[in-house]
Amino acid sequence: MIKYLGSKRVLVPAIGAAVSALGARSAVDLFAGTTRVGQELRRRGLHVLSNDTAAYAEAFGRAYICAGPWHHRELAGVLAKLESAPDLDGYATATFCRSARFFTEANGRRIDGIRAAVDRLALGSELRGLALTSLIEAADRVDSTVGVQMAYLKRYAARALRPLALRPPGPVPGPPGEVAAMDANVLAGALDGYDCAYLDPPYNQHSYLGNYHVWETLARGDSPEHYGVACKRADLRERTSAYNSRRRAWPALRELVERLPTPYLVVSFSDEGFHRPAELRQLLAERGHVGELQAANDRYVGARIGIHNPAGERVGTVSHLRNTEHLFVVGPDGERVAAAIASARPLLGPAPRTSSPRNPAADRRPASEAAGAASATHGTARGR
Ligand SMILES: C[S@@+](CC[C@H](N)C(=O)[O-])C[C@H]1O[C@@H](n2cnc3c(N)ncnc32)[C@H](O)[C@@H]1O
Repeated sequence: MIKYLGSKRVLVPAIGAAVSALGARSAVDLFAGTTRVGQELRRRGLHVLSNDTAAYAEAFGRAYICAGPWHHRELAGVLAKLESAPDLDGYATATFCRSARFFTEANGRRIDGIRAAVDRLALGSELRGLALTSLIEAADRVDSTVGVQMAYLKRYAARALRPLALRPPGPVPGPPGEVAAMDANVLAGALDGYDCAYLDPPYNQHSYLGNYHVWETLARGDSPEHYGVACKRADLRERTSAYNSRRRAWPALRELVERLPTPYLVVSFSDEGFHRPAELRQLLAERGHVGELQAANDRYVGARIGIHNPAGERVGTVSHLRNTEHLFVVGPDGERVAAAIASARPLLGPAPRTSSPRNPAADRRPASEAAGAASATHGTARGR
């Protein structure tokens, strides 16, 4: 699994337990990213629709949400062909190894060679998704960053000196699902028949496509104009998300919550984002009963190492290492919501000691209310 900001590693078992306790048989993961949450739901037997606007997330979705055992049986042969593809000095080598220094040139030529071979093999969509996922995960293991692709290290990280090697993405048991690559608000208007929607949108100004532009280019296999020290794709200036804008994020989230036809919603968000937990709670209460949990979470590795400039030099200090993740479960049946919260609670790590210490905009409940218990179920404002 790639290094990914906001990946729900800590919350995944709790989200899975909550969705199972709701009795949901199908779910849509609207902001799927690594697809970790969708994988957990698939393992639990749900039919999953995995959606994200990033092309790399679409590849992960084909690999982890759609591919079945029959695709995995063919994968070894495909990876053997890709491993034997000739090196190529192409776009990735020129851009990500010479203009920028995300990889060594030797690994850049492997990346270009394998990426060209993926196209030559003209694979079906699941095998293509598996091949692209294998390449991106292999590149992630030998990159020279602190986790995001806005900068690279001045000297190669030790792992970057190892030769790139493909591994098969692990098979995920459970029914094969589906993948979409749409704006979540547009998809919400077209959904039909899903029991539950999981919402994990970006909650601050940092664009995922900017942070992971190298994966986007590897997934698309194109040769875009680029800008800046990190050689970001020029089209990212137009491919913006409302959820990364302080002004547009709340109206977008409100529209999404109002538009979703699924009876149940599960929403996770970090206290470091734009929104106040109290306002979000109020918005969700318009859909029915609201259950809530909080968990302390380690921040991403870059936060531990400090702030770096585009040359990878350390120019700042670590402000804090933990944040609070909020998990809301919302729906028309209060008993099911309470059961979902009860199932999820034991699977979360230790509760945060204070409610929302990092975000000055966040509401400030007394510590006694948030600590330890860190959960509550609120009455319905308007059931559905
Ligand atoms: C917080 S991350 C999700 C992380 C994911 N839950 C995981 O565990 O890996 C938010 C995701 O939303 C995607 N995104 C941003 N704007 C979007 C939009 N308008 N519609 C759909 N996806 C969007 C980003 O590409 C990013 O992958």
